[in-house]
Amino acid sequence: MGNIIKIQKGCKDILPENVTTWQFIEEKARETFSKAGFKEIRTPIFEATELFQRGVGDTTDIVNKEMYTFEKSERSITLRPENTAGVVRAYIENGMHKLPTPVKLYYMGPMFRYERPQAGRQRQFSQVGVEMFGIETPVADAEIIALAVDYLKSVGLNDLDVEINSIGCPKCRDEYKNKIKEVLKDELPNLCEDCQVRYYKNPLRLLDCKVDSCKKIFEKPEIQKVIQSDYICDECSKHFEELKLYLEKLNIKYKINKLLVRGLDYYNRTVFEIKSNNLGTQNAVCGGGRYDTLVSNLSGQPTPAIGFAMGMERLISLIPQIENPKLDVFVVSDNMANALYCTQKIREMGFSAEFDLNNRKFSKQLEKASKVANFAVFYCENEVQKNVVNIKNLSLSTQKEVSFEELGSILHNER
Ligand code: HAM
Repeated sequence: MGNIIKIQKGCKDILPENVTTWQFIEEKARETFSKAGFKEIRTPIFEATELFQRGVGDTTDIVNKEMYTFEKSERSITLRPENTAGVVRAYIENGMHKLPTPVKLYYMGPMFRYERPQAGRQRQFSQVGVEMFGIETPVADAEIIALAVDYLKSVGLNDLDVEINSIGCPKCRDEYKNKIKEVLKDELPNLCEDCQVRYYKNPLRLLDCKVDSCKKIFEKPEIQKVIQSDYICDECSKHFEELKLYLEKLNIKYKINKLLVRGLDYYNRTVFEIKSNNLGTQNAVCGGGRYDTLVSNLSGQPTPAIGFAMGMERLISLIPQIENPKLDVFVVSDNMANALYCTQKIREMGFSAEFDLNNRKFSKQLEKASKVANFAVFYCENEVQKNVVNIKNLSLSTQKEVSFEELGSILHNER
């Protein structure tokens, strides 16, 4: 016999005792998003590597360091590290630009990033997310942020921090990038290795470096002055101001975080994150933003778009675990065939039911019933003869003899 084969690093089994909480957040997502007119989309878990290189951007950590990429029949394939690029591909390929706008889609499922595993960070993790296509005005940004807040409320999370920023359009951002480069020129040798590369490839990303020595440098007053400056152009600024007004109208409290630039290249204008203090360093539950050039960058018709995704494991860690529901009925009998028959009849009536496949003695069966079910239904020889059952409400300890016809309505009323 070989060794026991273990789960891969950075992955987790979701065991039956935890699955009810997962089903709860999945149901709430379906409910909340469909109430807002979003339709579910399911795209493949692997895509052409080029989709992420062109979509997410080849200066990002995700594309440079974190993708699970492999060759198959001389094609380069990648397990999706996120799903915005995949949804945009599907939007273009299925001609969804011909649909009336906005096109509103949501999804949930596994994503894969080869990162250093730690609390709140896995290599296989799940996201639930939404994408909305076709609307450029900031009312769409406000609706998307409100939807994220609604969803979090629906799973019981009311007190999270909403952080927003505008990273402008390619034009005003280029000027800002140059200013950042200029003010950091002399500090370049003191920045971490990654930041030295970012300085040339994508200076905006310098701002969300997590290395302490870099963070200290960015705190210097002359550098802060550039970071905190209002660099975005008039149009981008107007867009952002309107978004703030809408959020205020909706009573959604937000903080402006000028360091919020997000780790994916496709964003412009609004970016946002929703954070919790109870999550440690990986404190973002939700990340999103506007990506008005992604559809055209992936060779579709120019289409403004905005969306977000939430880490489902992080969400789960913030809400109390939900106990698995008890069975409606556990059938107790002195005969396996009768137990099976009675159980089947109860299931046909639409209730959940089990019986003792181990055929243990009566007292053991009853013990099991009180652990796993709300009702015990006795179907032993004397009940079989009379064509009745005895039903015991296990929390009230009341018991009565009833026909199969009556059983259904009792279960229905007392459940
Ligand atoms: P993201 O910020 O990379 O954005 O991921 C969104 C959320 O997924 C994060 O806030 C976090 O909760 C969760 N997450 C990310 N990486 C991990 C990990 N390694 N382990 C556990 N949870 C993780 C996106 O993916 C964009 N596609 C969001 C978006 C949609 N933007 C526009 N539309």
